[in-house]
Amino acid sequence: SAADKGAYPFYMLKEIDEQPAVMRKLVQEYFGDHDDPQIDENLIKAMADADHIYIVGAGTSYHAALVGARIFERLCGIPTTVHISSEFAYEQPLLSKKPFFIFLSQSGETADSRQVLVNVNAHKWPSLTITNVDKSTLSREATFTELLYAGPEIAVASTKAYTAQIAVEAILAKALGEYLGKDAAKKFDVKHQLGLVANGMQSITDSKKEIEEVAARYLSKPRNAFYIGRGLDWSVSLEAALKLKEISYVQAEGFASGELKHGTIALIEKGTPVLGIITQDRTAGLTRSNLDETRARGANTITIVSRHLSQEDDTIILPDVDECLTPLLSVVPAQLLAYYTSLGKGLDVDKPRNLAKSVTVQ
Ligand code: G6P
Repeated sequence: SAADKGAYPFYMLKEIDEQPAVMRKLVQEYFGDHDDPQIDENLIKAMADADHIYIVGAGTSYHAALVGARIFERLCGIPTTVHISSEFAYEQPLLSKKPFFIFLSQSGETADSRQVLVNVNAHKWPSLTITNVDKSTLSREATFTELLYAGPEIAVASTKAYTAQIAVEAILAKALGEYLGKDAAKKFDVKHQLGLVANGMQSITDSKKEIEEVAARYLSKPRNAFYIGRGLDWSVSLEAALKLKEISYVQAEGFASGELKHGTIALIEKGTPVLGIITQDRTAGLTRSNLDETRARGANTITIVSRHLSQEDDTIILPDVDECLTPLLSVVPAQLLAYYTSLGKGLDVDKPRNLAKSVTVQ
């Protein structure tokens, strides 16, 4: 069955490897034979009517929301903000006049996120849940549902649900942006791009050996590590750091690379791993300078870079895709680095201490 580990030692590795197939499945489910996404018109109309989109989630889903918000703003021109569900539920910010809510939840059962949805429904605000589990609580209680089609995710640390969430957000942003007549959306060939993403993911998962070596060399001993980046690369650095924390117990932090010098660089010492994610044209040079600053203080710098921005001594090279979708590729080496660091320490990759797959208490 889909939930069978087969020849894999851990579900997490199987789920990392399934990501290209999930991308292809999403193209099939959302496009079929069409060139444009086939999305419920009532959903698109409800979103087009909003003056602000609020995306709510917890853990990895919150990180997928950070990426999605940038895509909605770039393609649809609607201000979009992201909120941690346990915060939003009790410290609700002042809202716009016509809010639209998107709930991201792999399980559809996270109590923190549901608490926000209860409040949203009390106000009769429109909402969409994007989830892997049809008929889950968050799916039943929201106005609309879209599915991730990722298949069961068993490992506690989320991988394929994160990339599926970003892909669905991009598909939705394409549909909404087109409906609103936005040029950026018209130019964004998400169907074609997701095909490139699937192939790109495949080539990264095919180079596991090299990534395992990077993990063994730089991440097996240190207690701390930093992922840095700017813009979308910063958003991914938060998820990359979370993977390392969750399963390998390295105290990792994702950081806006320009902010490092304003305090946190004090933590860099000889051998501290600093992993730079570099996929955005405008900020590539700046992140490289920030990496140099850490190397000058003894850090071991490791780079994850889009091919067209790469230089000779870069560590991991990513195939090129549209700038909005680079998170779908840059996260994959980070998932594998966390996996191999955990494996190398002999830890239970799929069942890290203190964590649960789905948290149904607040
Ligand atoms: C738990 C899991 C995380 C997950 C979070 C949100 O804390 O350990 O991996 O990201 O819940 O879960 P959800 O099902 O709402 O996406």
